[in-house]
Amino acid sequence: MAEQSKKWILMVTAQTPTNIAVIKYWGKRDEKLVLPINESISVTFDPAHLCTTTTVAVSPSFQQDRMWLNKKEISLDGARYQNCLREIRARANDYEDEKKGIKISKNDWQNLHVHIDSYNNFPTAAGLASSASGFACLVFSLAKLMNVQEDNGRLSAIARQGSGSACRSLFGGFVKWVMGKEEDGSDSIAVPLVDEKHWDELVIIIAVVSSRQKETSSTSGMRETVVTSALIEHRAKVLSLYSLH
Ligand code: ADE
Repeated sequence: MAEQSKKWILMVTAQTPTNIAVIKYWGKRDEKLVLPINESISVTFDPAHLCTTTTVAVSPSFQQDRMWLNKKEISLDGARYQNCLREIRARANDYEDEKKGIKISKNDWQNLHVHIDSYNNFPTAAGLASSASGFACLVFSLAKLMNVQEDNGRLSAIARQGSGSACRSLFGGFVKWVMGKEEDGSDSIAVPLVDEKHWDELVIIIAVVSSRQKETSSTSGMRETVVTSALIEHRAKVLSLYSLH
């Protein structure tokens, strides 16, 4: 780092809407890489309605990565957070702000720590896909901060490793999550189908009946279904026959 002073701080703020499935993602074929057993299609909400706002900051004075969600500090130890941080850092690029005298080289990002402040303007973990907007926003803002270039759905593939449906929240309108064939999951990404004006009369009404945290997380619900349901295999087979174009 050319600038050794510990006084500087760089910040990026982003806002990402959540999405609701028309054809739902349910079941993983690879838990670690978060690869689905079926293709899915969703509609992304208007960012003015249900969204996450995330600010990421970096400074040489930060001693460790930390995160606050809805004003409460949370642990970043979980695999979903570590996956996103690791994958973004691995693709970070040089950054320079001559006016502020800040120069960060590609390798410096490995040793610099981030602070993340995230806020959902709707109930968290209550069935409204807060992790979709949350991880899409986290990956997008970290990518901007660390100067990561988008390349063939790269950010979508990283957001997917935070939360599957997050890969679809990086696009507006109707979005498809392609299953992909690669072992490393690099082609399991979201692609926009049509933009938000395509079906202009469409109105989605969200009736929040409870803002309590749901009792079964999507991760364990999916795991249980894949292990115990004969119907889920049938669903995945039928959906692949009608491959969602
Ligand atoms: N899970 C739920 N909301 C989230 C957010 N805003 N950021 C990261 N993970 C989340």
